[in-house]
Amino acid sequence: MNQKEELIVRIKDLAREKNAIILAHNYQVPEVQDIADLTGDSLALSIQASKTDAAMIIFCGVHFMAEAASIVCPDKKVIIPVEDAGCAMADMLTAEQLRGLKKEHPGAPVVTYVNSSAEVKAESDICCTSANAVQVVKWTGAREVIMTPDRNLAAWVRRHTDQVIHAWDGYCPIHDDLSVVELKKAMAEHPDAVVMAHPECTEQVLELADVVRSTSGMLDYAKSSSAEEFIVATENGLIHALEKENPGKRFFFASANMICKDMKKTGLPEILKALEDETPEVKVPEDIRIKAYRAVDRMLQVPRD
Ligand code: 13P
Ligand code: SF4
Repeated sequence: MNQKEELIVRIKDLAREKNAIILAHNYQVPEVQDIADLTGDSLALSIQASKTDAAMIIFCGVHFMAEAASIVCPDKKVIIPVEDAGCAMADMLTAEQLRGLKKEHPGAPVVTYVNSSAEVKAESDICCTSANAVQVVKWTGAREVIMTPDRNLAAWVRRHTDQVIHAWDGYCPIHDDLSVVELKKAMAEHPDAVVMAHPECTEQVLELADVVRSTSGMLDYAKSSSAEEFIVATENGLIHALEKENPGKRFFFASANMICKDMKKTGLPEILKALEDETPEVKVPEDIRIKAYRAVDRMLQVPRD
């Protein structure tokens, strides 16, 4: 057995012994995706976290995702293998800033993207993910809605509803950086490819896309599509699962620069250490958790199309 195989065996044995489940986001490095019990987008992982009967969740992703698991499963130990794996977008809005925005638009419900801190969720009426943002905003039934923290997701929703959307000016640096020029270059190189993009990309980029979906939405689309070539405008870690699930189909980066460094911090040694030490634990203070839970739970009640 080589070193990697040994690590895998030790992780699996220890996870079994401790009744731990390993969840991994679709952007994690290939070996982490491969060892996970479940992979998915933010919505799928929140749902899985709320359903598991494991005693411990090892959350391979970024901090807000582990926090979301702790919000829905307060009785479970939620461990994030790398404590400082964060999300630049989530860090762009504080609860205090949100309170200020609410004062500017009194009465407008706050729809907050799950890429946000527990404190921001606690100040929100309902959460959404990239997979259900349009449905959630429509479901509020409100004429005016505050959307935080992603301006690009808000612009995407605006195109699909006639509600007035007041957006916070946050963004994901990785998706926001993808330029129309870069995407057009990839399209010229692969003229037959279907362009799949994440709604965190700019409006101008999304206008060029054939399909706009969450990460798991892209996986579903690629599987069911009869197309054989795809340009993928999201964090490049998704290509691993796309290729694994679709042998014979070809996937191309929209840009080789779409890499979220925080998503790449977790590897097999970090997972093993997290299982051994049962740290660092992510625990949301109960007063914040109860309020944040209301917003997440409301989202989970919204019917999906
Ligand atoms: P998904 O919910 O689509 O997986 O996206 C999460 C994310 O962080 C995108 O940058
Ligand atoms: Fe946050 Fe962007 Fe990384 Fe997703 S890709 S976790 S939005 S910084």
